[in-house]
Parts: sequence; C-alpha cells; structure tokens
Amino acid sequence: MRCVILGAPVQDGAGRMGCEMGPSALRTAGLVSVLTRLGHQVEDRGDIRRGPARPLTHPNAALKALPEIAAWTAVIMEAAYAASAAAMPIFLGGDHAISAGTIAGVARRAQDQGRKLFVLWLDAHPDFHTLETSESGNLHGVGLAYASGLPGFAGWFPDLPVAVDPTRICTMGLRSVDPAERTALAAAGVTVHDMRAVDEHGLAPLLRGFLQRVAAENGILHVSLDVDFLDPAIAPAVGTTVPGGATFREAHLAMEMLQDSGLVASLDLVELNPFLDERGRTATLMVDLTGSLMGKRIMDRPTRAFV
Ligand code: ARG
Ligand code: MN
Ligand code: MN
Repeated sequence: MRCVILGAPVQDGAGRMGCEMGPSALRTAGLVSVLTRLGHQVEDRGDIRRGPARPLTHPNAALKALPEIAAWTAVIMEAAYAASAAAMPIFLGGDHAISAGTIAGVARRAQDQGRKLFVLWLDAHPDFHTLETSESGNLHGVGLAYASGLPGFAGWFPDLPVAVDPTRICTMGLRSVDPAERTALAAAGVTVHDMRAVDEHGLAPLLRGFLQRVAAENGILHVSLDVDFLDPAIAPAVGTTVPGGATFREAHLAMEMLQDSGLVASLDLVELNPFLDERGRTATLMVDLTGSLMGKRIMDRPTRAFV
C-alpha cells in the first residue's frame, strides 16, 4: 500500500507542552522502517507548518490558543485532503487538536469519492466539547465535535467543507467524559463503547460489530488513536493519563482486526508527549501498534475479519 506520513507538531491544544516533539519521536521509534519492512511504499512528507494566526476572541474566556489552533486546523485540513488523494495518510501528532483538520480533510476526500466516511475514535476522552462547553479551554478537547459539525465553531474555526455524520462515529475506550460531552454524544447519536462496555463484552465483539456496519455500507474508515486509549502502565507518555485503559493485548487485537477488515483509509497517531516518556517506550508501542494495523502478524492465518 502507498502511505504518506505527515507530521503535525501541534501542542497548543494540550494543557502542557511537549506534543510538538511527537512526530520526531514516532520517526525515531522507526515508523518508516516498520512500514517499509511490511512491504508498503512510504513517503514521508515531513511536518506541516502553521500559517499565520489572526487574533480571535471568544465569549468563553477559558479557551486557550484559539487563534493558533484555528490556523493549524486550516492548514492540516488542506494537507490531509491533498495527502489522501492517492495514498493512505498517517498523521503524526501533535495533540488531538490535529484531528479537527485531519478528519475534515479526509471527509472532503471521501465525499469526492462518493464514499461514506466512518470514524473510529480510540481514546479515554471523546473530545466532544464545543467552544462554548469546554471548561479546561484546552482545544484538544473539541476536535471530534468540530468534525461532526456541531454548532458554535463558525467564525472561529475554518468553515467545515463536509461534516462527518455523528451516527457513523464509534468511540472506544472512553473513561473520562465531561457532563456536557455526555449530553452531546447522546444527542448526536455517536456510538460509545466506553471502558465499562469493553470490560463487559470484550473489545473484539464491539469492534467487529462496528466494522461489519462500515463494510455493509461500503464505507471507508478513519482511525484516530490517542495515546491515552492505552493504559498508563504501558503508555506513560501522555499529559492526560486516565487509569484503566486498553491493555497491550487489547490494543494489538484492535489493530489486527482493523488490518483484517481492509477498511482503514487514514490514521491519526496523537497525544504522544515524548517529554513524559520512559526511554521511548510509548513511542515504540505506538509504532508497534501501527505495524499491527498495517499488516504485521504473529502467524499467517486466514483472514476472517467478521466471523
Ligand atoms: N475533556 C477534557 C477537557 O476538555 C479532557 C480532554 C482531553 N483530550 C485529549 N485529547 N487528551 O479538557
Ligand atoms: Mn483525545
Ligand atoms: Mn484522550
């Protein structure tokens, strides 16, 4: 497969600095060679650079770095659209604010192709705040709401070329949801497989059900993988750790099932904060998981994604 790697060194959306170093750490952990060894044709287009930020003020005084994130969203959206023309883009965050732009860009591409875009959001958090409801003011908490076309972004964030239908979004691994997000997720009809559901049913049946639906509707899939989807014990390099995340085995199984499905058209690797890592172990895990998603397997086995 042809893959395009695009770094998006955004850190202004997170509460603390360090995610800017994410693309560099993922490259250092061997992302390109892992993909190349799996037989993929990889083009690393380097890092996106932000355009100028214009001054913006908002009634929600808690919002941080609104001009910067608005400007990032515009350039990332364009880069994501361009990168998805003839290859599978892999976006290297950067904090999760990058997904406002990556999803908007690939959604526009899907629309050009007459395909339905689905989103699998692997995260401890839904990042489903609007600019009005964010209490922390950290704009990595609004990306999915923006890409879903929730109101209140017009005039601050760039105009959304096409929104993702929230009923085609599946979040998995949630365990930290703010009250306003809980209400908004339910109202929008987003599928939520929180950690309670993962514990009760197991990750595989939940993911299989979603992938079956994507396949049945001839959809294509964008996967957004936040480091804090993973349990902090195996992935410490993130500013927003929440105990009780996905295990090493659950995470690899999810990636292997995504590979088997053949549905994944684009991927975000986000929220890696290398300043908080321990000898690169989180960066290495994120790269290893990408390897599983892109075809690394223990043994050859018949592909039977949906049985
Ligand atoms: N809901 C919280 C907030 O809005 C946490 C967001 C965490 N998001 C993330 N991408 N790590 O501040
Ligand atoms: Mn997130
Ligand atoms: Mn998160």
